[in-house]
Amino acid sequence: MSKLLILGPSLREASSSAALARALTKRMSPKMAISTFEIGQLPHYNADLGKPDAVAELIAAIDAADGVLFVTPEYNYSIPGVLKNAIDWASRPAYASVFRGKPCFVVTTSGGAMGGVRAQSHLKYILNGMLARVFPWQEAIVPFANKKTEEGRFADEETISFIETALNAFADWARLVGTKEGQEI
Ligand SMILES: Cc1cc2nc3c(=O)[nH]c(=O)nc-3n(C[C@H](O)[C@H](O)[C@H](O)COP(=O)(O)O)c2cc1C
Repeated sequence: MSKLLILGPSLREASSSAALARALTKRMSPKMAISTFEIGQLPHYNADLGKPDAVAELIAAIDAADGVLFVTPEYNYSIPGVLKNAIDWASRPAYASVFRGKPCFVVTTSGGAMGGVRAQSHLKYILNGMLARVFPWQEAIVPFANKKTEEGRFADEETISFIETALNAFADWARLVGTKEGQEI
């Protein structure tokens, strides 16, 4: 895998999920080109808007990526609305969107003990509904993410290296399954 796109960290400045995304970007950058799309800039989904520039940029970024890494907190037992909004924009046309066949890996975080595992299952269900390829790996969850974040820096090496191992496996798997439109899935 040469290009990885990160989607999902929360928008607040002191975000632990964003800190984790930055730490993973730093750790994985020698091996792959990693970019993050700022989903907070997207308008609310409205089919009447057509394809606003920010949406076109999101779709192009997903299209250009060999894989998508979701790093998202859990909100009310599911994924945050801002992430669902981004997914909804990129999900059209149904079953034939840029997500079709796209290798995806999900990492969830939470301030509490559950690590966002419920959001994780919701997100995988949504990705399956778009015919994305969801990496079949053990759950990558990050409990107590705020306690692991110090002044905007994700500081828990055990978590970073656990996810690094998973991401290396994801990259190998994504290379095998590919991402080309029209491939059997
Ligand atoms: C609207 C909202 C809903 C939340 N719901 C959950 C939840 O269902 N489960 C959970 O473990 N934490 C929940 N939390 C706590 C978040 O896990 C915690 O605020 C976390 O730090 C958010 O990620 P961030 O640091 O990247 O902003 C919620 C937080 C907010 C703001």
